[in-house]
Amino acid sequence: MNFQWYPGHMTKAKRMMQENIKLIDVVIELIDARIPASSRNPDIEQLANGKKRVILLNKYDLADDVHTREWKEYYDKKGYFTALVNSKSGKGIRDVNEVIMKACKEKIERDRKRGILNRPVRAMIVGIPNVGKSTFINSFAGKACTRTGDKPGVTKGKQWIRLNKNVELLDTPGILWPRFENQKTGLNLALIGSINDDILQLEELAAELVVILKNEYPEVLETYLGFGISADAYEILEEYAVKRGCRQKGNEPDISRASILMLDDYRSGKIGKITLEYP
Ligand code: G4P
Repeated sequence: MNFQWYPGHMTKAKRMMQENIKLIDVVIELIDARIPASSRNPDIEQLANGKKRVILLNKYDLADDVHTREWKEYYDKKGYFTALVNSKSGKGIRDVNEVIMKACKEKIERDRKRGILNRPVRAMIVGIPNVGKSTFINSFAGKACTRTGDKPGVTKGKQWIRLNKNVELLDTPGILWPRFENQKTGLNLALIGSINDDILQLEELAAELVVILKNEYPEVLETYLGFGISADAYEILEEYAVKRGCRQKGNEPDISRASILMLDDYRSGKIGKITLEYP
Protein backbone atom coordinates (compact mmCIF):
# COMPACT_ATOMS: atom_id res chain seq x y z
CA MET A 1 0.00 0.00 0.00
CA ASN A 2 1.30 3.43 -0.89
CA PHE A 3 0.50 6.31 1.39
CA GLN A 4 0.23 9.82 0.13
CA TRP A 5 -0.44 13.09 1.80
CA TYR A 6 -2.15 16.02 0.26
CA PRO A 7 -0.41 18.99 1.84
CA GLY A 8 -3.30 21.47 1.65
CA HIS A 9 -2.43 24.43 3.85
CA MET A 10 0.90 23.04 4.89
CA THR A 11 2.91 26.11 3.95
CA LYS A 12 0.46 28.47 5.62
CA ALA A 13 0.58 26.53 8.88
CA LYS A 14 4.34 26.44 8.82
CA ARG A 15 4.53 30.18 8.23
CA MET A 16 2.18 30.79 11.15
CA MET A 17 4.53 28.81 13.36
CA GLN A 18 7.65 30.52 12.08
CA GLU A 19 6.09 33.95 12.71
CA ASN A 20 4.97 33.12 16.22
CA ILE A 21 7.89 31.10 17.45
CA LYS A 22 9.83 34.23 18.42
CA LEU A 23 7.10 35.18 20.89
CA ILE A 24 7.16 31.78 22.54
CA ASP A 25 9.13 30.49 25.52
CA VAL A 26 8.07 26.89 25.29
CA VAL A 27 6.79 24.62 22.54
CA ILE A 28 4.33 21.99 23.70
CA GLU A 29 4.26 19.14 21.24
CA LEU A 30 1.36 16.73 21.38
CA ILE A 31 2.08 13.25 20.13
CA ASP A 32 -0.03 10.11 19.99
CA ALA A 33 1.03 7.62 22.67
CA ARG A 34 0.24 4.71 20.33
CA ILE A 35 2.82 5.91 17.79
CA PRO A 36 5.20 8.24 19.63
CA ALA A 37 7.68 8.39 16.74
CA SER A 38 5.42 8.31 13.68
CA SER A 39 3.14 11.03 15.08
CA ARG A 40 5.99 13.55 15.16
CA ASN A 41 7.02 15.71 12.26
CA PRO A 42 10.82 15.96 12.13
CA ASP A 43 10.56 19.62 10.99
CA ILE A 44 9.66 20.53 14.56
CA GLU A 45 13.32 20.28 15.56
CA GLN A 46 14.21 23.13 13.24
CA LEU A 47 11.02 25.12 13.88
CA ALA A 48 11.39 25.02 17.64
CA ASN A 49 15.13 25.49 17.60
CA GLY A 50 16.38 26.93 20.88
CA LYS A 51 13.02 26.88 22.62
CA LYS A 52 12.22 24.83 25.67
CA ARG A 53 10.41 21.67 24.71
CA VAL A 54 7.55 19.79 26.28
CA ILE A 55 6.28 16.54 24.82
CA LEU A 56 2.85 15.33 25.87
CA LEU A 57 1.99 11.71 25.14
CA ASN A 58 -1.69 12.24 24.47
CA LYS A 59 -4.34 9.51 24.19
CA TYR A 60 -2.32 7.39 26.57
CA ASP A 61 -5.62 5.77 27.54
CA LEU A 62 -5.44 3.98 24.16
CA ALA A 63 -1.80 2.87 24.39
CA ASP A 64 -0.05 0.02 26.14
CA ASP A 65 1.03 1.30 29.59
CA VAL A 66 4.33 -0.61 29.57
CA HIS A 67 5.44 0.87 26.26
CA THR A 68 4.12 4.31 27.19
CA ARG A 69 6.43 4.31 30.21
CA GLU A 70 9.33 3.25 27.97
CA TRP A 71 8.60 6.07 25.54
CA LYS A 72 8.32 8.63 28.33
CA GLU A 73 11.70 7.56 29.66
CA TYR A 74 13.13 7.67 26.16
CA TYR A 75 12.07 11.29 25.63
CA ASP A 76 13.04 12.28 29.19
CA LYS A 77 16.56 11.02 28.51
CA LYS A 78 16.71 13.11 25.36
CA GLY A 79 16.12 16.21 27.48
CA TYR A 80 12.43 16.86 26.78
CA PHE A 81 10.02 17.62 29.58
CA THR A 82 7.25 15.05 29.30
CA ALA A 83 3.86 14.06 30.67
CA LEU A 84 1.14 11.52 29.90
CA VAL A 85 -2.27 12.98 29.18
CA ASN A 86 -5.74 11.91 28.28
CA SER A 87 -7.17 15.18 27.00
CA LYS A 88 -10.59 13.64 26.57
CA SER A 89 -11.08 12.69 30.21
CA GLY A 90 -8.75 15.32 31.61
CA LYS A 91 -6.47 12.74 33.24
CA GLY A 92 -2.91 14.01 33.58
CA ILE A 93 -3.85 17.55 32.57
CA ARG A 94 -3.11 18.90 36.01
CA ASP A 95 0.54 17.80 35.75
CA VAL A 96 1.09 19.83 32.60
CA ASN A 97 1.39 23.19 34.34
CA GLU A 98 4.16 21.86 36.55
CA VAL A 99 5.98 20.38 33.56
CA ILE A 100 5.83 23.75 31.78
CA MET A 101 7.18 25.49 34.88
CA LYS A 102 10.02 22.99 35.07
CA ALA A 103 10.85 23.51 31.40
CA CYS A 104 10.92 27.29 31.87
CA LYS A 105 12.70 27.33 35.22
CA GLU A 106 15.75 29.21 33.89
CA LYS A 107 13.65 31.90 32.23
CA ILE A 108 11.58 32.44 35.37
CA GLU A 109 14.78 32.65 37.40
CA ARG A 110 16.32 35.11 34.92
CA ASP A 111 13.20 37.30 35.08
CA ARG A 112 13.24 37.21 38.85
CA LYS A 113 16.87 38.38 38.98
CA ARG A 114 15.95 41.31 36.76
CA GLY A 115 13.13 42.18 39.09
CA ILE A 116 10.41 40.99 36.70
CA LEU A 117 7.89 39.10 38.75
CA ASN A 118 4.96 37.06 37.53
CA ARG A 119 5.54 37.52 33.83
CA PRO A 120 3.73 34.53 32.41
CA VAL A 121 5.57 32.11 30.16
CA ARG A 122 4.17 31.91 26.66
CA ALA A 123 3.44 28.55 25.10
CA MET A 124 2.39 27.22 21.74
CA ILE A 125 0.77 23.85 21.13
CA VAL A 126 1.88 21.95 18.05
CA GLY A 127 1.07 18.56 16.59
CA ILE A 128 -0.16 16.61 13.60
CA PRO A 129 -3.87 16.76 12.68
CA ASN A 130 -6.20 14.76 14.91
CA VAL A 131 -3.65 14.24 17.68
CA GLY A 132 -5.97 16.09 20.07
CA LYS A 133 -4.76 19.71 20.06
CA SER A 134 -8.20 21.33 20.33
CA THR A 135 -9.35 18.83 22.93
CA PHE A 136 -6.19 19.45 24.92
CA ILE A 137 -6.49 23.24 24.75
CA ASN A 138 -10.12 23.07 25.90
CA SER A 139 -9.27 20.72 28.70
CA PHE A 140 -6.12 22.56 29.79
CA ALA A 141 -7.56 26.04 29.54
CA GLY A 142 -10.87 25.00 31.06
CA LYS A 143 -13.68 27.45 31.36
CA ALA A 144 -12.02 29.87 33.71
CA CYS A 145 -9.46 31.19 31.25
CA THR A 146 -9.60 34.66 29.80
CA ARG A 147 -8.67 35.57 26.30
CA THR A 148 -6.34 38.50 25.99
CA GLY A 149 -5.68 40.57 22.92
CA ASP A 150 -9.27 40.70 21.76
CA LYS A 151 -10.16 43.89 23.60
CA PRO A 152 -10.94 47.02 21.58
CA GLY A 153 -7.78 49.00 20.95
CA VAL A 154 -5.55 45.97 21.24
CA THR A 155 -3.85 45.05 18.00
CA LYS A 156 -5.94 42.54 16.18
CA GLY A 157 -4.42 39.22 15.46
CA LYS A 158 -2.78 37.15 18.09
CA GLN A 159 -4.99 35.73 20.73
CA TRP A 160 -3.55 34.55 23.95
CA ILE A 161 -5.35 32.43 26.43
CA ARG A 162 -4.35 33.38 29.94
CA LEU A 163 -4.39 30.05 31.75
CA ASN A 164 -3.31 31.23 35.16
CA LYS A 165 -0.82 33.71 36.49
CA ASN A 166 2.01 31.57 35.17
CA VAL A 167 1.08 30.58 31.63
CA GLU A 168 -0.30 32.13 28.47
CA LEU A 169 -1.15 29.97 25.50
CA LEU A 170 -1.35 31.00 21.87
CA ASP A 171 -4.90 30.05 20.97
CA THR A 172 -4.07 28.78 17.47
CA PRO A 173 -2.32 25.46 17.58
CA GLY A 174 0.45 24.78 15.09
CA ILE A 175 -0.48 22.04 12.70
CA LEU A 176 2.41 19.91 11.59
CA TRP A 177 1.68 17.61 8.71
CA PRO A 178 3.01 14.14 9.21
CA ARG A 179 5.91 13.19 7.06
CA PHE A 180 6.21 9.73 5.62
CA GLU A 181 9.86 8.98 5.73
CA ASN A 182 9.06 5.34 5.31
CA GLN A 183 6.02 3.17 4.70
CA LYS A 184 5.89 2.02 8.33
CA THR A 185 5.27 5.62 9.43
CA GLY A 186 2.49 5.90 6.86
CA LEU A 187 0.98 2.62 8.00
CA ASN A 188 1.02 3.69 11.65
CA LEU A 189 -0.63 7.03 10.85
CA ALA A 190 -3.27 5.29 8.77
CA LEU A 191 -4.00 2.77 11.52
CA ILE A 192 -4.71 5.42 14.13
CA GLY A 193 -6.90 7.29 11.65
CA SER A 194 -4.68 10.28 10.91
CA ILE A 195 -4.91 9.82 7.17
CA ASN A 196 -8.18 10.31 5.37
CA ASP A 197 -9.70 6.84 5.00
CA ASP A 198 -11.04 7.75 1.57
CA ILE A 199 -7.58 7.40 0.10
CA LEU A 200 -6.78 4.10 1.82
CA GLN A 201 -7.43 0.49 1.02
CA LEU A 202 -9.17 -0.43 4.20
CA GLU A 203 -9.06 -4.19 3.76
CA GLU A 204 -5.33 -4.09 3.34
CA LEU A 205 -5.05 -1.80 6.34
CA ALA A 206 -7.17 -4.11 8.51
CA ALA A 207 -5.09 -7.08 7.36
CA GLU A 208 -1.93 -5.19 8.43
CA LEU A 209 -3.53 -4.57 11.81
CA VAL A 210 -4.34 -8.26 12.18
CA VAL A 211 -0.71 -9.16 11.40
CA ILE A 212 0.60 -6.67 13.99
CA LEU A 213 -1.83 -7.92 16.62
CA LYS A 214 -1.01 -11.54 15.84
CA ASN A 215 2.68 -10.87 16.40
CA GLU A 216 2.57 -8.47 19.33
CA TYR A 217 -0.76 -8.99 21.08
CA PRO A 218 -2.00 -12.51 20.17
CA GLU A 219 -4.04 -12.92 23.34
CA VAL A 220 -5.68 -9.53 22.97
CA LEU A 221 -6.59 -10.41 19.39
CA GLU A 222 -8.01 -13.79 20.31
CA THR A 223 -10.12 -12.33 23.08
CA TYR A 224 -11.40 -9.62 20.75
CA LEU A 225 -12.22 -12.02 17.92
CA GLY A 226 -13.70 -14.70 20.14
CA PHE A 227 -12.23 -17.45 17.99
CA GLY A 228 -8.85 -19.10 17.50
CA ILE A 229 -6.37 -17.31 15.25
CA SER A 230 -5.68 -18.99 11.94
CA ALA A 231 -2.57 -18.44 9.86
CA ASP A 232 -3.75 -15.97 7.27
CA ALA A 233 -4.85 -12.41 8.01
CA TYR A 234 -7.50 -12.45 5.26
CA GLU A 235 -8.92 -15.73 6.58
CA ILE A 236 -9.21 -14.09 9.97
CA LEU A 237 -10.98 -11.11 8.42
CA GLU A 238 -13.36 -13.41 6.60
CA GLU A 239 -14.24 -15.35 9.73
CA TYR A 240 -14.60 -12.07 11.59
CA ALA A 241 -17.00 -10.77 8.91
CA VAL A 242 -19.18 -13.84 9.40
CA LYS A 243 -19.10 -13.37 13.15
CA ARG A 244 -20.09 -9.71 12.92
CA GLY A 245 -22.85 -10.53 10.45
CA CYS A 246 -21.24 -8.62 7.58
CA ARG A 247 -22.61 -10.19 4.41
CA GLN A 248 -22.81 -9.02 0.88
CA LYS A 249 -25.20 -10.11 -1.85
CA GLY A 250 -25.12 -13.89 -2.32
CA ASN A 251 -24.38 -14.26 1.40
CA GLU A 252 -20.62 -13.89 0.89
CA PRO A 253 -18.70 -12.48 3.88
CA ASP A 254 -18.29 -8.72 3.46
CA ILE A 255 -14.63 -8.26 4.35
CA SER A 256 -14.73 -4.62 3.43
CA ARG A 257 -17.36 -3.75 6.03
CA ALA A 258 -15.73 -6.00 8.62
CA SER A 259 -12.44 -4.17 8.03
CA ILE A 260 -14.08 -0.84 8.82
CA LEU A 261 -15.61 -2.25 12.00
CA MET A 262 -12.27 -3.62 13.13
CA LEU A 263 -10.38 -0.40 12.40
CA ASP A 264 -13.02 1.61 14.25
CA ASP A 265 -12.70 -0.72 17.21
CA TYR A 266 -8.93 -0.36 17.20
CA ARG A 267 -9.07 3.43 16.96
CA SER A 268 -11.57 3.77 19.78
CA GLY A 269 -9.64 1.40 22.03
CA LYS A 270 -12.26 -1.37 21.97
CA ILE A 271 -9.70 -3.99 20.95
CA GLY A 272 -7.40 -3.01 23.78
CA LYS A 273 -4.57 -0.69 24.78
CA ILE A 274 -2.22 -1.24 21.88
CA THR A 275 1.02 0.49 20.95
CA LEU A 276 2.28 0.15 17.39
CA GLU A 277 5.96 1.07 17.77
CA TYR A 278 8.63 0.90 20.44
CA PRO A 279 11.60 3.07 21.34
P1 G4P B 1 -6.81 18.19 16.61
O1 G4P B 1 -7.30 19.49 17.15
O2 G4P B 1 -5.37 17.93 16.94
O3 G4P B 1 -7.06 17.97 15.14
O4 G4P B 1 -7.59 17.01 17.36
P2 G4P B 1 -8.99 17.04 18.18
O5 G4P B 1 -8.82 17.80 19.43
O6 G4P B 1 -10.06 17.45 17.25
O7 G4P B 1 -9.14 15.50 18.56
C1 G4P B 1 -9.27 14.48 17.62
C2 G4P B 1 -10.01 13.31 18.21
O8 G4P B 1 -9.23 12.72 19.25
C3 G4P B 1 -11.34 13.66 18.85
O9 G4P B 1 -12.21 12.55 18.63
C4 G4P B 1 -11.01 13.74 20.32
O10 G4P B 1 -12.11 13.51 21.17
C5 G4P B 1 -10.01 12.61 20.44
N1 G4P B 1 -9.09 12.74 21.58
C6 G4P B 1 -8.32 13.81 21.90
N2 G4P B 1 -7.57 13.55 22.97
C7 G4P B 1 -7.85 12.28 23.36
C8 G4P B 1 -7.35 11.41 24.41
O11 G4P B 1 -6.47 11.76 25.19
N3 G4P B 1 -7.88 10.16 24.45
C9 G4P B 1 -8.83 9.72 23.57
N4 G4P B 1 -9.29 8.49 23.71
N5 G4P B 1 -9.31 10.51 22.57
C10 G4P B 1 -8.82 11.76 22.47
P3 G4P B 1 -13.40 12.59 17.64
O12 G4P B 1 -13.85 11.19 17.48
O13 G4P B 1 -13.02 13.35 16.42
O14 G4P B 1 -14.46 13.43 18.39
P4 G4P B 1 -15.34 13.01 19.68
O15 G4P B 1 -16.35 12.06 19.13
O16 G4P B 1 -14.43 12.36 20.68
O17 G4P B 1 -15.88 14.30 20.15
